Amino acid sequence: MIELLIANNLVKRFRTSGGFFRTSTTDILKQVSLNIGHGETVGLVGESGSGKTTLARCITGMLTPEEGDVQFDGIDIHALNRQQKKHCRQAMAMVYQNPYLSLNPHFTLYELIAEPLETAGNMRERDRQERVANLMAQVGLADIPLTQRVTTLSGGQAQRIAIARALALKPKLIVLDEPTSALDVSVQAQILNLLVALKESQNLSYLLITHNLDVVRYICDRVIVMSEGVIVEQGETENVMTDPQHAYTQLLIQSTPHLPTPPPPKQDTDTASPG
Ligand SMILES: Nc1ncnc2c1ncn2[C@@H]1O[C@H](COP(=O)(O)OP(=O)(O)OP(=O)(O)O)[C@@H](O)[C@H]1O
Ligand SMILES: [Mg+2]
Repeated sequence: MIELLIANNLVKRFRTSGGFFRTSTTDILKQVSLNIGHGETVGLVGESGSGKTTLARCITGMLTPEEGDVQFDGIDIHALNRQQKKHCRQAMAMVYQNPYLSLNPHFTLYELIAEPLETAGNMRERDRQERVANLMAQVGLADIPLTQRVTTLSGGQAQRIAIARALALKPKLIVLDEPTSALDVSVQAQILNLLVALKESQNLSYLLITHNLDVVRYICDRVIVMSEGVIVEQGETENVMTDPQHAYTQLLIQSTPHLPTPPPPKQDTDTASPG
């Protein structure tokens, strides 16, 4: 596996208030190291507050860790100047849990998807329009008018817009922070299938943060388990799920109400049952 991202010994420390005149610091990430290969989907699981989002922010350059380094495509992202960092960040994108919060409700769908293209510059208006239409088609929303706003869309459609926006600058890595947990179960599967298809067609790598181990089993090649700012276990998804080594992972798997394995897809020749 050729690595796309290598993070070494990341330490992220936050100042916490300890009352009058007292501040202390807490290490939220404690010497965290991880790799993401080209074309790989890596799951990141762990309890709330374990540091998953903080880790995602450090590896995408949105936060600067106190210690450690991040090599993205062979470049040390925290050693770059502002301009270089901006350029490097275009090769990474993030999709968040709630598209109604992460996307500006005042923007039209066109503006939402075109914005990263405009910020990056050097694209003619006509090419931009073509690219936006193309991105809408890629996420299965070719029929939705670009003049609409995200508030008029369903949760699944809105998340598709967030994905289109993330794809705009042809990233190599997309960090998905709980991308389906705010959606209805039936819609979750559609979004996951879209992500799988896009990964293949766009040569993407994913870091997928989730609380849902069924989601991990469904799309992740590898899984990383975090607890209290430390990676306690990582490995091939199937190995970790069937033979967890760490007590915390075992607890996580036991405490997950397991959904039955979905039946294989129906053939077209099946007679559709009413209702
Ligand atoms: N900017 C900040 N300043 C101080 N503390 C922070 C900051 N951001 C996060 N923290 C703390 O760091 C810890 C880890 O937060 P983080 O958001 O990374 O957890 P998480 O694993 O993503 O949780 P969740 O599953 O709930 O999203 C939490 O205790 C949080 O309160
Ligand atoms: Mg989080």
